[in-house]
Amino acid sequence: MLIRPRRNRKSAVIRDLVQETHLTAANLIFPLFILEGNNVKSEVSSMPGIFRYSIDNLLREVEACMKLGLHAFDLFPNIDETLKDRYATEATREGSLYLRAIAEVKKEFPEACVVTDVAMDPYSSDGHDGIVENGEILNDETLEILGRMAVAHAQAGADIIAPSDMMDGRIGYIRSVLDEQGFSNVSLMSYTAKYASAFYSPFRDALNSAPKLGDKKTYQMNPANQREALIEAELDAQEGADFLMVKPALPYLDVIKLLHDQFDLPIAAYNVSGEYAMVKASARNGWLDERRATMEVLLGIRRAGATAILTYHAKEVLENRWL
Ligand code: PBG
Repeated sequence: MLIRPRRNRKSAVIRDLVQETHLTAANLIFPLFILEGNNVKSEVSSMPGIFRYSIDNLLREVEACMKLGLHAFDLFPNIDETLKDRYATEATREGSLYLRAIAEVKKEFPEACVVTDVAMDPYSSDGHDGIVENGEILNDETLEILGRMAVAHAQAGADIIAPSDMMDGRIGYIRSVLDEQGFSNVSLMSYTAKYASAFYSPFRDALNSAPKLGDKKTYQMNPANQREALIEAELDAQEGADFLMVKPALPYLDVIKLLHDQFDLPIAAYNVSGEYAMVKASARNGWLDERRATMEVLLGIRRAGATAILTYHAKEVLENRWL
């Protein structure tokens, strides 16, 4: 045998020399859940180790992460049911929980990168990402609300706005509204290929944001489709997206790879709540080694082509020095 691939695996030093993909703290974005109150830290039962924080505790959590070298955060609000309505008006109310949280994080930690979520669902009494009328999710009427949300986030200090709703035309619409209002430096991380997935359930527990009626299949993509992601990516690129995101990550590594190969924009991937819960649950049962499984998942997402990974494991990976 002339060629023996095992020679390059014979020692740790050589294995490191030939390692093709690396993961660093710089690749990670940590999603954080917030809620109203003082000194609150409530664990999400389907996501052990992940908490909803009141703003005071959020600031402490961000500080702890910054010390670990984790500098990018994506915020999601848990909104009291009584504040929800059909038009998500709480989302743009001055002084609302979310807008205060963005501003306070940026005030305390100007060098932190704050990613904000633009979508109606945490604020919608219907639990949908768009206005619901006679069971239908309205597209163009929803865009106006998304535009107002984006401007409010930008005014509060958001670095990157991440529209997660999958309405058609949202990236172009939000881009033009932001530019008109003088926020041409605020980035857009588009949820380009967001699938109608079973893996969002723990997130909906965290925010109490599950749809009241029906599902999200008329706007989120069919898990069976790959090529359709190219249409979405083409539109987002034309409309001015700065990042293309694929979500979830693990069942869609082919889509991450496809968008990476076909587009020059950076690729983000969302290792979603259900993917986190899956690893946690089996680790807790002693069915797999959490460190190795987590690193394999994250490296796999990097290998497929994502440079930015949103993951609930972000802090733990750094705290435990798993990298
Ligand atoms: C909704 C939104 C969802 C997630 C992020 N933004 C869920 C949904 O579409 O219902 C899921 C994230 C996760 O599961 O970790 N705009």
